[in-house]
Amino acid sequence: MLAELSPTLIAEVELATKLLKPAQRICILTGAGISAESGIPTFRDKQTGLWENYGVEDLATPKAFIRDPKLVWSWYQWRRQVVADKTPNPAHHALAQWQYHAQSTEQQLTLITQNVDDLHEQAGSTVTHLHGNLWRHKCGQCEAPVQEQARDSYSSQNTVGYDEALMTCAQCGGYIRPDIVWFGEALPVDEWHTAENAATNCEVFISIGTSSLVYPAAGLAQSAKQNGAQVIEINPNPTPNTFVDITLAEKAGIVLPLLIEEITAL
Ligand code: OAD
Repeated sequence: MLAELSPTLIAEVELATKLLKPAQRICILTGAGISAESGIPTFRDKQTGLWENYGVEDLATPKAFIRDPKLVWSWYQWRRQVVADKTPNPAHHALAQWQYHAQSTEQQLTLITQNVDDLHEQAGSTVTHLHGNLWRHKCGQCEAPVQEQARDSYSSQNTVGYDEALMTCAQCGGYIRPDIVWFGEALPVDEWHTAENAATNCEVFISIGTSSLVYPAAGLAQSAKQNGAQVIEINPNPTPNTFVDITLAEKAGIVLPLLIEEITAL
């Protein structure tokens, strides 16, 4: 299987395997790149990235929602339609298989994601979401959670949906918004605590499919490094992280199944 990769990449996978096999505490951070091979657009990839085509300040800030709640809501309705029929790819499945395998070993794997899709869960992983969840809503005013909308009412075949009317909160009348962390907002406290804890206490930190540009999530790899962890990055493109020990410059859906097959082999 490894023979499918270039000699340089094979050498890096072997190094990563040596590091990961005996490690007991591993922290994994994923970003939009891990879902790219499932057909979900990333944010910053040239031409296809969401923020290449839409303005962050028009769609993903509290001010944008106050200014034009209908525009923001309908954009997220459109995103729900895009994601609705997407399924996990080999990268999600490989991580789920590793987590399952780790239950019978000494390894403690903490999986953290910046993604708002649920492809890790669909693959069978336990995951902490730092940036919220596309399928949850809350009141934009009193923050009361709103019951999840039926997922199958969204699909890429469904042409109705994404400009539908705003919903209002049964308790205070405020507009319902996506339960997603927007720019300028704080991360959910418990989830951030889990992530910080796992990053500062791990022996190996793996950063997968993230441009490492959005803080505080991007700072987790640095915290891990400062606390003595080795850092592995899986990304076909370079990132600003200059402290990475092992770079696997390939798509996650190609490299992760091979790496995890090596790690979990007897
Ligand atoms: P970005 O779009 O910034 O970065 C995606 C990264 O994935 C890039 O570095 C790509 O090179 C890499 N990539 C693309 N295809 C890949 C593949 N098949 N395998 C591995 N890597 C691949 O997305 P994030 O870093 O996740 O925030 O963005 C961070 C946050 O910015 C998001 O969570 C979102 C956004 O604004 C919120 O919504 C709050």
